[in-house]
Amino acid sequence: MRRPSLSVLILTAIIVVLAGGLIATLLFVASQPAPQRGIPPLVEVAPNEPVSAKWGLNFPNQYSTFLLTEQNAISTTYGGSALISKLEQDPRLVTLFAGMAFSKDYNEDRGHRRSLEDVRATRRVNETTPATCYSCKSANTPSLWAEMGMREFDKQKFFDMSARITEPIGCANCHEANTMRLIVTNPALEEALVALGKDWRTFTRQEMRTVVCANCHVEYYFQGDDKYLVFPWRNGTRIEEIAQYYADTGFEDWKYPDAGTSMIKMQHPEYEVYTADSTHYRAGVACADCHMPYTRDGAAKFSSHNIQSPLLMAEAACGACHTDVSYAVERAKRIQDQVHETMLKTEDALIAAIEALKAAASDANADQSKLAEARTLHREAQLRWDFISAENSMGFHNPEEALRILATAIDLARQAQLKAIAASQTALLASALR
Ligand code: HEC
Ligand code: HEC
Ligand code: HEC
Ligand code: HEC
Repeated sequence: MRRPSLSVLILTAIIVVLAGGLIATLLFVASQPAPQRGIPPLVEVAPNEPVSAKWGLNFPNQYSTFLLTEQNAISTTYGGSALISKLEQDPRLVTLFAGMAFSKDYNEDRGHRRSLEDVRATRRVNETTPATCYSCKSANTPSLWAEMGMREFDKQKFFDMSARITEPIGCANCHEANTMRLIVTNPALEEALVALGKDWRTFTRQEMRTVVCANCHVEYYFQGDDKYLVFPWRNGTRIEEIAQYYADTGFEDWKYPDAGTSMIKMQHPEYEVYTADSTHYRAGVACADCHMPYTRDGAAKFSSHNIQSPLLMAEAACGACHTDVSYAVERAKRIQDQVHETMLKTEDALIAAIEALKAAASDANADQSKLAEARTLHREAQLRWDFISAENSMGFHNPEEALRILATAIDLARQAQLKAIAASQTALLASALR
């Protein structure tokens, strides 16, 4: 038998070494953790880090688009980011909010990077304002809530906390540091979801792309002397359920001057209105689909963090699903015009009710039980109108729901007007019969 030549031996050795190397490499690769989405972090970001620029080192595309929210200043027909007074646009609001701060100062909403500057500029803030007002305006709040607890935070005065509030809205309001997953950061949202029997930790990614906005874009109120932040969702998030919550708790934002009605002011309920069975919500569309469309920068594909009116970027915002973008935008305009027209009619009905109530309230002989009924009707009518008026999409988020609620509000306002007239006419009649 021939002995194997030296070259064969060397070749075999090389094959053995290479095969061993290959097996070792495969074993090594298999034992590695699953690859992370995106690029690995260049810098560690501390939990709840308030300074967005630090997160921005790892995610320059998201950070640079986010910075644009400070520059946006274009108006659309019913929205946009220009600094516009809603009171000048619609002077009826001065009457509807008489006796409370919104009749003095009420501006169009602007970009996330403007949040701190705008809350500090509003004339609605004074020495009695609680720190609670910072809840949705700053990336400092998640770390302060973690440090002090929300109850202690809310007990402070706005101006006393100002020194510790240095950042506008930022990454820490929506993301968990390093994992970058979307999270509920506002304890009031966590508590409201628990009250509804929901645990956001079990939500899908698509659900979180909507729920993360509910950290702020919701109706809320300040409970008790501690000014504790609460979302009034115990019965549910529909307007009837929220109205029932306020009726049960007897909460009052202000007393309407001369009419004597105990009033509720609604705040930007985009989440509640959108999720009330709207066409888009039912189709599984999330807030981020329209407001944070995917964008390309060379090979990188990322969510635009330049959150603004989607009508200013309709190609990206609507084009992912609608092939005929100009048709979709034209339909949106029709919806908004219709809702706007109905809203103005509702305001006329409310103002008529207020006038009748004032007259009845100044009538010493008015039937007090009818007057009380008229006030309840006024309160219920106005909080419904405000639910749609304070919602920032002029009905686009849920056209059917907006029109349904406004129709009810008109009906209730006219009932309030009739009841107030009846209250003083009863008095007139009684005095005539005397
Ligand atoms: C199907 C697309 C779509 C979805 C989904 C959507 N929006 Fe909108 N949103 C719009 C459009 C269109 C407007 C109207 C903008 C205008 O009038 O300029 C708007 C307006 C707004 C505004 C006021 C913007 C401005 O310019 O003043 C806010 C705030 C807002 N949406 C938040 C949300 C939140 C929060 C959610 C989820 C709960 C959501 N949107 C879901 C399309 C959408
Ligand atoms: C930490 C609170 C907070 C969170 C979370 C938040 N927002 Fe906002 N958002 C605000 C505030 C406050 C403003 C108004 C800022 C101003 O007017 O200075 C605003 C303004 C907006 C505007 C109007 C921008 C413009 O230029 O007119 C849109 C649109 C919007 N938000 C959509 C969203 C969407 C979509 C989400 C979820 C992906 C979201 N927001 C999450 C607090 C928040
Ligand atoms: C108002 C809420 C909000 C804020 C503030 C915010 N993000 Fe996001 N971010 C989102 C949403 C919603 C997504 C989409 C997540 C998904 O699709 O799972 C996202 C996605 C991301 C992603 C995943 C990749 C991508 O682009 O989809 C990264 C990375 C990211 N954000 C970084 C940042 C950084 C950095 C900041 C601060 C400069 C920031 N985000 C601020 C809501 C926010
Ligand atoms: C993620 C997908 C998606 C995005 C993004 C999206 N839409 Fe839609 N839209 C739908 C679906 C699904 C329907 C349901 C009707 C259907 O089945 O065709 C719909 C329905 C509509 C309707 C008719 C229903 C109604 O509510 O009156 C209008 C109008 C509309 N979209 C406008 C827009 C506009 C404007 C934008 C951008 C701001 C937009 N859509 C963004 C998926 C989307």
